[in-house]
Amino acid sequence: MKTIIVFGSFVGNTETMAGYIQEGLRQAGISCDVRDVMDVSSEILLDYELLILGSPTYEPKMIQEDMLPFFDQMEKLKLDGKLGATFGPGDSAWPDFCTAVEMLEERMRNCGVRILCESLMVDGIVEEAESATLEWARELARKALSESGTG
Ligand SMILES: Cc1cc2nc3c(=O)[nH]c(=O)nc-3n(C[C@H](O)[C@H](O)[C@H](O)COP(=O)(O)O)c2cc1C
Repeated sequence: MKTIIVFGSFVGNTETMAGYIQEGLRQAGISCDVRDVMDVSSEILLDYELLILGSPTYEPKMIQEDMLPFFDQMEKLKLDGKLGATFGPGDSAWPDFCTAVEMLEERMRNCGVRILCESLMVDGIVEEAESATLEWARELARKALSESGTG
């Protein structure tokens, strides 16, 4: 199943999570492309079946700054029939915990993407959530493969 992870990351935590998710998917039989949002435009999503988007949350705009143009351009994309999931790190000391992840999920739904599982939100140190992130990715892969009829 053609799969892509697109992430924005300022300090590197979302990039670290993207690496764990790539590894978890691999363990469950899905290889994927991983792209920093700075290197792609939203149309790249048209080429894939399983779309995984990740952003940290930063007040006041919530979505990570590099990801804002990609997020805006997504609005005009038709992604019906595609499968998806979202993830991101945050910090519950802030009043709007992981709001960017919710915004990405809503945008994907509005584009026609079928969201396969609850989004992954990590509070605090992402390295401490490595095994939970791997498990989330393996479960996502199992659902994606069974939905597509190839699992
Ligand atoms: C200025 C600033 C604003 C932040 N605002 C929020 C916020 O509103 N909600 C939240 O959950 N986390 C917030 N965070 C925490 C970041 O999302 C968190 O540190 C995240 O791991 C950064 O990811 P990155 O390394 O991929 O950039 C904020 C952090 C900073 C420095």
